[in-house]
Amino acid sequence: MCGIVGYLGNREAVPVLMQGLKQLEYRGYDSSGVGVLHRKKIKVIKEQGKLEMLERKLTDKLNTNIGIAHTRWATHGGVTTENAHPHSGPEGKVAVVHNGIIDNFSNLKEELQAKGNVFLSETDSEVVAHLVEEYIDLGPEQAVSKALSRLDGTYGMLFLFRDHPEMIIGARNGSPLVIGIGQEEMFLASDALAFAGFTQHAVFVDDGEMVILSNKDYRVVNRQNIQINKNVEELDMSSNIKDMQGFPHFLLKEIFEQPKSVFRAMGRGGRLLPDFGTALLGGLNMEKRDFYDIRKIHILAMGTAMYAGEIGKYIIEDLTRIPVEVSDASELCGINPIVEKDTLFVAVSQSGETRDTIAAVQEIKQKGGRVLGLLNAVGSTMARMTDGGAYIHAGAEFSVASTKAFTSQVTVLALMALMIGRTRDISLTRGKELVQELMDLPDKITSILEKADEIKKMAERIKDHHSVMYMGRGINYPVAMEAALKLKEVSYIHAEAYSAGSLKHGPLALICEEIPSVFICTSGDYQEKTISNIQEVRARNGRVLVISNYEDDTLRKVADELFVVPSSDSLLSPLLTIVPCQLLGYYTALALGRDIDQPRNLAKSVTTD
Ligand code: G6P
Repeated sequence: MCGIVGYLGNREAVPVLMQGLKQLEYRGYDSSGVGVLHRKKIKVIKEQGKLEMLERKLTDKLNTNIGIAHTRWATHGGVTTENAHPHSGPEGKVAVVHNGIIDNFSNLKEELQAKGNVFLSETDSEVVAHLVEEYIDLGPEQAVSKALSRLDGTYGMLFLFRDHPEMIIGARNGSPLVIGIGQEEMFLASDALAFAGFTQHAVFVDDGEMVILSNKDYRVVNRQNIQINKNVEELDMSSNIKDMQGFPHFLLKEIFEQPKSVFRAMGRGGRLLPDFGTALLGGLNMEKRDFYDIRKIHILAMGTAMYAGEIGKYIIEDLTRIPVEVSDASELCGINPIVEKDTLFVAVSQSGETRDTIAAVQEIKQKGGRVLGLLNAVGSTMARMTDGGAYIHAGAEFSVASTKAFTSQVTVLALMALMIGRTRDISLTRGKELVQELMDLPDKITSILEKADEIKKMAERIKDHHSVMYMGRGINYPVAMEAALKLKEVSYIHAEAYSAGSLKHGPLALICEEIPSVFICTSGDYQEKTISNIQEVRARNGRVLVISNYEDDTLRKVADELFVVPSSDSLLSPLLTIVPCQLLGYYTALALGRDIDQPRNLAKSVTTD
């Protein structure tokens, strides 16, 4: 779960590498480091803590055009400067930055220690530097290749060599690696974001491949040392530069970007066909008749993407009458999942790099299942392993807590439901109604954002509590789950979500003055029952905040605080009710002085098991 970047070219390497690390910080941010060739030596500078700490250490101008760098999320070994990357071999001939986990590192370490090697860190990665140096007399390529053949585990790795000043070698197995091709300069990184602003030309490296980079050229070889011809892809990186655009935090910027990102998810309107009351997602690679054959849809995802999937389940089941299962992808692997021919699997992921979701996709595909991807990161690992899908076009999301990706995922799931539904039972009239409702969403979200100050006041009242309950019924239940996740991720206040119906089956015991509840209560089927639940909480001295899409006397009477979003079709209401909940998480964290964009212990992209 780390970010790696390498540079070789005509520019000063350190500023380029630092810019790359800033772009990659979402992958981990507990320590960082750079390794450059300087005066015929590999100079490593690393530091525990945020990137600013490393920046402070980089006071000397190092005239060098080649280097590798790393931003860390600790797996093996605590958060210390010694454990930060790069790691070097015993004689300083090789340095490595590594993303992934080497499973057999202890055995290799013992073997090398028996030969007298001394290790300076507790990491699995340092072993790789020692191993390559052990074989370095074979030449860098052979040395890396031989070392790789002895590793079990996952890696995206970059190697720098003291005696080969015009070469970086990279290798990939289970952790992403992408080459950026510039004018007489090359980049090699765990994510194309690292070179956004320098080049749009990218080559995605696959598992089992090794990259040999010079500033003019690159070669990709497989494990048998056979050269592979790779496609150069042109990426649209325009919205991918890390820039807060005047907002104090990325989280707030991304919440406020949602009118636009939801519109982009609808292909700026191009994915909607108003006259036919339907949507068009060409990338699904499915014909009308394929939709008839689907008997079940199975969504695979983690975290916020999974809650988007849970909301998608309500929308898809309502519009298509196809049963939907949503799986926590980490729970799916190793349980011999059932893969039936007429099940359509859908992986939902912002990054396209989440290890658990990738592992689930791999398992399903091995069993012959068809997997679509609803993804944000173009060219990501999942984008290249799925059988089709749709990008959600949210633009790069930098805050660890996901917001705009969530609303874009729900939007694209709604488009998919509408598209499949229209080939089945949905009438043209209902289809047209939904298309209009979808088109109205951006303005409705804007009107919620205009009332952000109301939520700021609510946050003042939440911030001193140690626990908050979130509740809703039906489609509002997964909204409550996502809302609770947002609060706990960024404010560190314990928050739990329950279906309002399950309240009496246990959670009611928790209700007291000290534990406020947030109810998502929208008009329609569950309205009355939810009001009763709110009353049950009030009767036990519980304070209640209500997020609703209607307002009447009863609601005003039962709610201690009420926030009203515009009304909409009930299936699309989560796209509105979630917005105040995101703001509540943000403002509570702000009031508590939390590290909003980089909450403790978390990383945006979880690329380890
Ligand atoms: C991490 C992030 C979450 C995200 C989840 C899934 O836990 O902190 O914000 O929802 O991973 O990530 P994905 O990239 O697959 O959507």
